[in-house]
Amino acid sequence: MPLSCSPLTVLYGRRKALNGFTLSLEKGEIRALIGPNGSGKSTALQALAGLITPAAGQTSIEGVAVASMSRRAIAKKLAFLPQQPSAPDEMTIAQLVRQGRFPHVGLFRSYDRKDEEAIEWALESTGLTSLADRTLQELSGGERQRAWISAALAQEAGILLLDEPTSFLDIGYQVEVLDLVHRLSRERGVTIVMAIHDINQAIAVSDRISLLERGELRFNGEPRALAESGLIEKTFRVKGRFVEVAPGKPPHFDVELTRHSDA
Ligand SMILES: Nc1ncnc2c1ncn2[C@@H]1O[C@H](COP(=O)(O)OP(=O)(O)O)[C@@H](O)[C@H]1O
Ligand SMILES: [Mg+2]
Repeated sequence: MPLSCSPLTVLYGRRKALNGFTLSLEKGEIRALIGPNGSGKSTALQALAGLITPAAGQTSIEGVAVASMSRRAIAKKLAFLPQQPSAPDEMTIAQLVRQGRFPHVGLFRSYDRKDEEAIEWALESTGLTSLADRTLQELSGGERQRAWISAALAQEAGILLLDEPTSFLDIGYQVEVLDLVHRLSRERGVTIVMAIHDINQAIAVSDRISLLERGELRFNGEPRALAESGLIEKTFRVKGRFVEVAPGKPPHFDVELTRHSDA
């Protein structure tokens, strides 16, 4: 199993941001992590990446506890794109993406053919080849987002954790990123966990969905079962319904643009 965790509890001070969160992924699976703002999605991803130490439970990569692995050993297996990554403004896309290779190259070896190929592929896959020499401050929000995705790809890890990778992107690039996620999973067997806000995109692209509410896992299962559970309306406090679009395709959530009263 590429990635799994025993029930994770994460505390910020005395506040429980995550309570008994579990996950176990098959190789090549795409898992969408959904839930309202503040429900613990980013916290869960950071705990899975071994970046925060849970108060209870542990994450394992291929059965090995991340707590026992070095950062570099983790980075060879797992790439994490945070919700708000940061890098110096003067850095170019090419430099950022090269940094993605660092776990493989380290301090004692120079970049070889395989590294250069991974970098070219990462730039190409995110449509950034012609922008490679631009600095991060010269990019639009969407281009910057793609640059970070590209850096994560260059890492060539078998597990990819993406925190809202489609935010800031126009609908065209959203579809491209989701297609890319799908290809990585199906063609390269990459295992992917992705926090995402768009319910329909989550349903369309993922094999399974985990739904968080106030740090608690409310649902873990296939998209169609989530649609049938009634949990979307309840958890997000919206009215709507799932409609069938085509045979064999997952249903589409059609939201009413008036909120329930908060009472
Ligand atoms: N570094 C932190 N320190 C204290 N509280 C935090 C921190 N990060 C997140 N939180 C809180 O933990 C909860 C979960 O946050 P987060 O995991 O970012 O949710 P989501 O990604 O689903 O929006 C929220 O209530 C948030 O305010
Ligand atoms: Mg978040």
